[in-house]
Amino acid sequence: MPRNKEGKTLVIGALGQIGQDLLDALYTKYGVDQVVAADIRHPQTPTAGPFRVLDVMDRSALFRLIEEEDIRRLYNLAAILSARGEQNPALAWDLNMVGLLNSLEAARETQLEQIFWPSSIAVFGPHSPRANTPQYCTMDPNTVYGISKLAGERWCEYYAEKYGVDVRSIRYPGLISYKAAPGGGTTDYAVAIFHEALKHGQYTSFLCKGTYLPMMYMPDAIRATLQLMDAPKESIKIRSSYNLGGISFAPEELAAEIKKHIPHFRCSYESDFRQKIADSWPGSIDDSHAQKDWGWEIEYDMAAMTADMLAHLEGVTA
Ligand code: NAD
Ligand code: SER
Repeated sequence: MPRNKEGKTLVIGALGQIGQDLLDALYTKYGVDQVVAADIRHPQTPTAGPFRVLDVMDRSALFRLIEEEDIRRLYNLAAILSARGEQNPALAWDLNMVGLLNSLEAARETQLEQIFWPSSIAVFGPHSPRANTPQYCTMDPNTVYGISKLAGERWCEYYAEKYGVDVRSIRYPGLISYKAAPGGGTTDYAVAIFHEALKHGQYTSFLCKGTYLPMMYMPDAIRATLQLMDAPKESIKIRSSYNLGGISFAPEELAAEIKKHIPHFRCSYESDFRQKIADSWPGSIDDSHAQKDWGWEIEYDMAAMTADMLAHLEGVTA
């Protein structure tokens, strides 16, 4: 097993939807004692490796933790996502920006080897091309979350070019997973639908039929993240954030796929404020730069993802 002989890896926001899966992958890669999980809240069950309470907005606490734990790599996952961000725009802007800037400053000042910060399909907006949205195009996000991600991308590129910080980033599509609940995004319906299908045999989607969005199963997202972080420095041509396509589907298509496994499942549709957010986002994404620069290839299609989600959740809800 490759060991972090020269310092540990820190994951901030480690108790969230991505963090829980990323931690497991990093434990496997580096060993549990080499990965420090941090979050603003305490874990409900102890993490396998070391855990520290940290508010990423507290710059001196972050610097202290980096020094005390001999951190060399940082993943900053702490953020407020799109739907929650619209409930409290000022807090979303503060956390998403200050958290990133503190992480970038920590990377620069303590000369971290690498830093990962995720962006999102939310950087696109109503004037971006909706189909096969390219890496470079009009970007006019109209959520505070999307605005913070687009500004964050510019900061990442700035720190890479001006200070040589090895910052890497992916514009994740909506992520579907079974380990942890999603944290308040517009794509959360695609997780909730599985839980409700198994528990109650029915679900009311807050996005209406025909709302195509790019989505990805978590194992693919984690594999992409580690692949990007393992890629040689010279192959990383984009320091803002890489488009990542995933699988594109509408709620009724996912419902139909679930119905193949749960024949009595019924899905209805009552859109709420999240519909407007979804309508401003791409329906599908062109990720040819990720393919070319670091060899990205997707594994899970909708059928494989659905079967795997249900197989894992059946045990949990039984
Ligand atoms: P999440 O909401 O599930 O988890 C975020 C975690 O950050 C939570 O555990 C929360 O307690 C923690 N946190 C909040 N404030 C904090 C603070 N001040 N200091 C330290 N920790 C704090 O989010 P997620 O889905 O795991 O997303 C992680 C990152 O990936 C975010 O930047 C998000 O924008 C991005 N992303 C996620 C998706 C997705 O579908 N999940 C898609 C695109 C991008
Ligand atoms: N899944 C995220 C959200 O819906 C996209 O970044 O907010």
